[in-house]
Amino acid sequence: MLSAPLRIGSMDIWPPLILAPMSGVTNRTMRALYRPFGLGLTVTEFVSSNALAYGSRRTMEMIDQHGLEKPVATQLWGDDPATMASAARLVRECGADIVDINFGCPAPKVTKTNGGSACLRDPDRCESIMRAVVAAVDCPVTMKMRLGWSDDALVYVDVARRAQDAGVQAVTLHARTAKQFYKGDADWEHIARLKAAVDIPVIGNGDLDDPHVAMRRMRDSGVDAVMLGRATLGNPWLISQIRDLMEGREPQPLPAAPDRLRFALVHYRRMVEELGEPRAVPQMRKHVALYLKGIPGAASLRERIMRLDFAAEAIATIEETIDRLEQAPAVAA
Ligand SMILES: Cc1cc2nc3c(=O)[nH]c(=O)nc-3n(C[C@H](O)[C@H](O)[C@H](O)COP(=O)(O)O)c2cc1C
Repeated sequence: MLSAPLRIGSMDIWPPLILAPMSGVTNRTMRALYRPFGLGLTVTEFVSSNALAYGSRRTMEMIDQHGLEKPVATQLWGDDPATMASAARLVRECGADIVDINFGCPAPKVTKTNGGSACLRDPDRCESIMRAVVAAVDCPVTMKMRLGWSDDALVYVDVARRAQDAGVQAVTLHARTAKQFYKGDADWEHIARLKAAVDIPVIGNGDLDDPHVAMRRMRDSGVDAVMLGRATLGNPWLISQIRDLMEGREPQPLPAAPDRLRFALVHYRRMVEELGEPRAVPQMRKHVALYLKGIPGAASLRERIMRLDFAAEAIATIEETIDRLEQAPAVAA
């Protein structure tokens, strides 16, 4: 075994490979489907602590972790320590193994209320929130952040040290500033610097889309775990490939195109079963578009799937594509 488990509190997380929280994407269906590829931990979409105070049905659905494989972290955002503490108690009651605090989201709808990455403009407030949440629950609390609000305010080391002092048990760094959104490259030098600056586990995140690069980043920065986001979408096999390397094996090759699309069908059907057709169809458009990557004729298929309003039509289109690929095996690799 080349890597060590990630230890958060008394939990040993193996492999040290985490699915990034992605709003509108990492719902319970998606997390359950992707976990068997080799994730040690999954994180929910971020949940507004204010919305939990009102208890909307959709928000309650997001925090319900009962009947799922463990461990799972539920992520909260907000700018008020007391509201965050109440929300933390509630998500813990609803089955979270870990409560994760979001100091990373750069979306204006979040930062305009001082939530997400906007908290990094006020490290004292970050500290108050972390202390309140740690005091509120009997499970580990973790935190995910960006480098800072902007290039001239890189507060990540300060905020991570405050996290450690407040009793937060691991910190994830997405190595971009809030102002960068997703532009430029994630700068792993900062992740290495953070690892050297704190004693709690550090989880590195940003732009990992290749198994060998992920392992190199992990080794060079010394982080305790890596977190993968966008590159897993349409390609959960990336997770297995990294797990293979972590366990000392050569990574399995990507399955052939028809098998990748068969998995897309499983994903589609599961989403319809669990969310219902009206919610599943729009969400699955983007997933199917990504599963089609690298498949002959993908561009026109993508266009067609984008226009379809019913699951049965989309499923039939994917099935026809599988048949077509299997009749022309030479191009289906
Ligand atoms: C569609 C989308 C939604 C996201 N939602 C969240 C979120 O709810 N909470 C969070 O901490 N980060 C969120 N992120 C950021 C990711 O967790 C991750 O930090 C970022 O995508 C960088 O990792 P990657 O390069 O592996 O994708 C989101 C990213 C995307 C693309």
